[in-house]
Amino acid sequence: MSAVTLGYDVSPLGEGVPFGATVSGLTLAQLSDSQVRQALYDLWIDKGVLLFRGGESSPQMQLELSRCFGELEPHPFPESRSEGNPDLVKIKFYPDDGSYYEINGELRGGWLPWHSDLIYTHRINHGGILRPVQLPSTLGMTGFLCQIAAYDRLPQPLRERIEGLHAVYEVQVDFSGCPFTDAGDVRLMRLANSGTEIEKRRFTYPRVIHPMVFTQQETGRKVLNVSPTFAIGIYEEGGPEGEELLREVVRHCTDAALSYFHDWQPGDMVLWDNWRTLHCATGVPPDETRVMERTTITGDYALGRRLGLDGPIADFDV
Ligand SMILES: [Fe+2]
Repeated sequence: MSAVTLGYDVSPLGEGVPFGATVSGLTLAQLSDSQVRQALYDLWIDKGVLLFRGGESSPQMQLELSRCFGELEPHPFPESRSEGNPDLVKIKFYPDDGSYYEINGELRGGWLPWHSDLIYTHRINHGGILRPVQLPSTLGMTGFLCQIAAYDRLPQPLRERIEGLHAVYEVQVDFSGCPFTDAGDVRLMRLANSGTEIEKRRFTYPRVIHPMVFTQQETGRKVLNVSPTFAIGIYEEGGPEGEELLREVVRHCTDAALSYFHDWQPGDMVLWDNWRTLHCATGVPPDETRVMERTTITGDYALGRRLGLDGPIADFDV
């Protein structure tokens, strides 16, 4: 059944954007129709990013819409959960609290380089819906990249080199310390209060690995499964050659010309497939405030593994 018959409208995400779609005019009442829920799910799998605009927008709508795509789960870090509802993650920057950085000479609060959410755990969530609570007067955009398109444009020799390899990830709170973000000259100026608490226990979380390529179950399309942020190397290839290989792959998947940057309006909600897209936040000038709430849609592609629990013990002298 077409979207128009179901009572909403579907159009491209943006001019020339090779992924994503805009869904206009969706209401909470429509979500009780199982055909609507299935059609939205299929559109999400097909397009990767859905912008909901010009329809109902509220925390209740955000939660119910998210449940069309899977069960919700609370964030593993209690510091990240919204005070009002554990199923919502609060992503916030205030002039007096929040991490801020100097990036290539510019100060940016709440900056997040390209990443997949929860890739530093062995069980990556399938998606999330982001909704603005308080928008800044400038910047505050969210960028998206399609990792199916990224795989399609990888040169064949590079595809062959990474087939069967895994990237290693760990919890990072200070993004200036991520070795593969490829963001230029990044310096941490202040760490958020919540980040300081998470950082204290960051070594208690095991490192994890995820395959650098996997196949999208529903469509058979190959996905480049590499998150520049949180990555610390290639499991099967430690050392300079592996580092250079990972850097080369990151250069391919973070081509800014192929990205979509969402400029938020009040009432927007954006859903993304966290298994086949990367996202990032431009951040805001450090005297601005930005507050967003995000759901975490659960799921398990069952390809991630924790390291160090039953693995071999290194034997060497230092
Ligand atoms: Fe994120």
